[in-house]
Amino acid sequence: MSNNLLKSKRGIIFGALNDQSIAWKAAEKCFEQGASIVLTNAPIALRMGEINKLAEKINAPVIGADVTNMEDLKNLFEKSIEHLGGKIDFVLHSVGMSMNIRKGNHYTKLNHELEYKTLDISALSLHRVCQTAYEMDAMSEWGSIVGLTYIAAQRVFPDYNEMADAKALLESIARSFGYHYGVKNKVRINTISQSPTRTTAGSGVKGFDGFINYAEKMSPLGNASAEDCANYCVTLFSDLTRMVTMQNLFHDGGFSLTGVTQAVIEQMEK
Ligand SMILES: NC(=O)c1ccc[n+]([C@@H]2O[C@H](COP(=O)([O-])OP(=O)(O)OC[C@H]3O[C@@H](n4cnc5c(N)ncnc54)[C@H](O)[C@@H]3O)[C@@H](O)[C@H]2O)c1
Repeated sequence: MSNNLLKSKRGIIFGALNDQSIAWKAAEKCFEQGASIVLTNAPIALRMGEINKLAEKINAPVIGADVTNMEDLKNLFEKSIEHLGGKIDFVLHSVGMSMNIRKGNHYTKLNHELEYKTLDISALSLHRVCQTAYEMDAMSEWGSIVGLTYIAAQRVFPDYNEMADAKALLESIARSFGYHYGVKNKVRINTISQSPTRTTAGSGVKGFDGFINYAEKMSPLGNASAEDCANYCVTLFSDLTRMVTMQNLFHDGGFSLTGVTQAVIEQMEK
């Protein structure tokens, strides 16, 4: 169902890898709501080819960009403005990668060279995206930039490893850049703190099944799905949330404010 909430808006969506990706669902929902979109991902992800199915479905070009490369990002904004015919109204930063988790390194035994890379891809990249847009004056007034994060930025989830630090940095960048971009152009920047979700990035976390089942039981509404998250993104890109900025917004079925639930107590008593 469409309410045309994003009618005539132009957006760039990072991070649609396959049809489980949160960015994939977000692109579908934004398109449904009337937006014109450019899709982007790392060159290596584009070689897998899945993204072309989405591109065809929502009539969007795909422009490769490594989020750690400023030249790529500049080219992405230039080409997107050219293709979409004007400044950008919204950006979804849906990017994450832990090099140490990939290598199976425990948090107490990190390879710090790899950690730099993790922080660059998963957190500093939001700064790179914002700075590129800011310097190019590429965003419309009242534009909206959203990044995706996880509650391990505030509370310890041991197996989330170095990504907890990356998410804390990501949320801080949204807050700090949100100030400067708000003052300059009324552009707003927020992060959505999403429930655990079965995606390629999510499933990389050790013990993910336990993780997701526990969160389901600990959330009064249950876990928020990728599709729910996509709908929430639409609201943040729409004009109905113009005064929301610099926030970390929990989208987790109530998990973040729940101490314990009857379902968890019953599980422990078994
Ligand atoms: N899945 C979860 O449980 C969960 C929960 C909360 C937050 N998040 C966050 O949501 C976001 C999207 O992840 P997802 O779960 O949809 O998984 P996903 O694996 O589908 O998406 C991650 C994306 O990051 C892209 N990426 C990695 N390195 C890149 C680079 N150098 N340049 C450009 N793109 C690059 C990948 O190609 C991929 O498309 C991430 O920030 C993730 O941390 C996920």
